[in-house]
Amino acid sequence: MNKKMIDIAREVLNNAYAPYSKYRVGAVVEASSGKLYTGCNIENMSFGLTICAERVAIFKAISSGEKSITKVVIVSDDDSIPIPCGACLQVMSEFSNRDLEVIASSKDGKLERFRLVELLPNPFRFDKER
Ligand code: THU
Repeated sequence: MNKKMIDIAREVLNNAYAPYSKYRVGAVVEASSGKLYTGCNIENMSFGLTICAERVAIFKAISSGEKSITKVVIVSDDDSIPIPCGACLQVMSEFSNRDLEVIASSKDGKLERFRLVELLPNPFRFDKER
């Protein structure tokens, strides 16, 4: 499944709209139903409106009726491994548990695997339960 998800993420990276940063990202999330949802980063001339690939994929899953996600794969077409930004980690934490597996890969296939809890040990929440 990981290999398949990485291949799909590399494919969807070609749809990235990143004329400003030139940093193209593709993402695939696996939902609890087992279905996969894809996303790419979409930038805007008003830079703050840019959305990351991971959030596009997660929002597609949730808006399709999924309740949670079980795995996230992110790839870049750069030498650097695309560790998800803080905003995306917070969104992941809304729809998963702390064991969520996050796999990130660079253009040359270097790969790193994380659990969400490592990347965002203390997500924001209203109640103080941890
Ligand atoms: N980006 C993502 O799509 N995912 C990340 O995890 C980090 C950054 C995008 C946003 C922007 O289009 C470009 O990468 C440079 O920041």
